[in-house]
Amino acid sequence: MALSEPVCLKDFEPLARASLPQLTYEYFRGGSYPEQTLKDNEWAFQRYRLRPRLLRDVSKRDMRTNMLGQDIAFPIAVAPTAMHCLAHNDGELATAKAVKSMGTGMVLSAGSTTPIEDVAAASSPNGMLWAQVHLFRDFNTVRMVIRKAEENGYKVLVVTLDCQVSRRETWKRMKLPPGKRLCNFPDTDLANLVSVTSNDKVTWKDIDWLNSITSLPIVLKGILTGEDAREALKHNIAGIIVSNHGARNLDGTLATIDALSEVVEAVRGANVEIYLDGGVRTGTDVLKALALGATAVFIGRPVIWGLAYDGEEGVRKVLEIIRDEFSLAMALSGCSSLSDITPDLVVRDPRYDAKL
Ligand SMILES: Cc1cc2nc3c(=O)[nH]c(=O)nc-3n(C[C@H](O)[C@H](O)[C@H](O)COP(=O)(O)O)c2cc1C
Repeated sequence: MALSEPVCLKDFEPLARASLPQLTYEYFRGGSYPEQTLKDNEWAFQRYRLRPRLLRDVSKRDMRTNMLGQDIAFPIAVAPTAMHCLAHNDGELATAKAVKSMGTGMVLSAGSTTPIEDVAAASSPNGMLWAQVHLFRDFNTVRMVIRKAEENGYKVLVVTLDCQVSRRETWKRMKLPPGKRLCNFPDTDLANLVSVTSNDKVTWKDIDWLNSITSLPIVLKGILTGEDAREALKHNIAGIIVSNHGARNLDGTLATIDALSEVVEAVRGANVEIYLDGGVRTGTDVLKALALGATAVFIGRPVIWGLAYDGEEGVRKVLEIIRDEFSLAMALSGCSSLSDITPDLVVRDPRYDAKL
């Protein structure tokens, strides 16, 4: 095997880096300064240790699950990330094809460089294809994206809450490749994108407004506290993604795996699904998140790295590797189905708390 052949998700980043302009690589990689949360999102998984159970028949492992009505082959889906065409010329189409071939799902970013309808056409008709929006400054754009998502069979609306204001220094110096554009903001340059997408006036009542204009189930992305999770329950939502936007907005938040239990506890007994993203890089990370109460996890940057490395095939490889690692982790901890992954499988390692 060539040394450059990736065998775990971490291997993809240097390979992608070698093929990307430096500024583009930094845009994909970076977190908010000084990147405390970026490091912690990945590192925090180490605070949880596994308590494997032995001598159980794990010869058949069922990783299938269901996310708000859509069946997927394993509980790892693709997070919404903007501008896939900067990673590979085939952009979001390559990602969608890889996702389809692996039987999992994806959330299409509002910052997609491929039209909503083309991504739908490349995806499986009954597959898990969700659309993401922010509450942009111009609500007509929000309406337009939702209409297109509905018309093209997207099943869920993911509303990202954690970037009402944001700072993207790299965007000021970046340009999209010739012929590529932000499909939902066709007249906007990257340099102006933050001003068009930010809206620091939105409140919970705008979630009620969203509910009044769409019948799609709403999943709120970016919740990190029990308080906001309880508030969310008052606004007719179907799910929550515990997320800190891949550490790209507020630095210094809890790592998402550390925030997960609080959110799970806050919604106990309510009819909402909880997901997590941020720093998920291995099969054991997935196992830990599920044990702590997530229905499924999303991955962001590893998909970009796979795309930059080898387009559709690269994304497929990323998904295959983490799926197989997850299957192995299930087997080694005595789980043959997702319902075997229970809270007693993890323990928070007290030595890490002592260090803080
Ligand atoms: C390059 C990049 C672009 C992103 N674009 C969006 C976006 O358009 N909408 C959104 O809700 N989240 C966006 N995110 C956040 C991801 O959905 C997700 O929360 C994050 O990447 C998960 O962390 P991970 O990269 O450590 O897996 C973006 C993240 C990255 C790295």
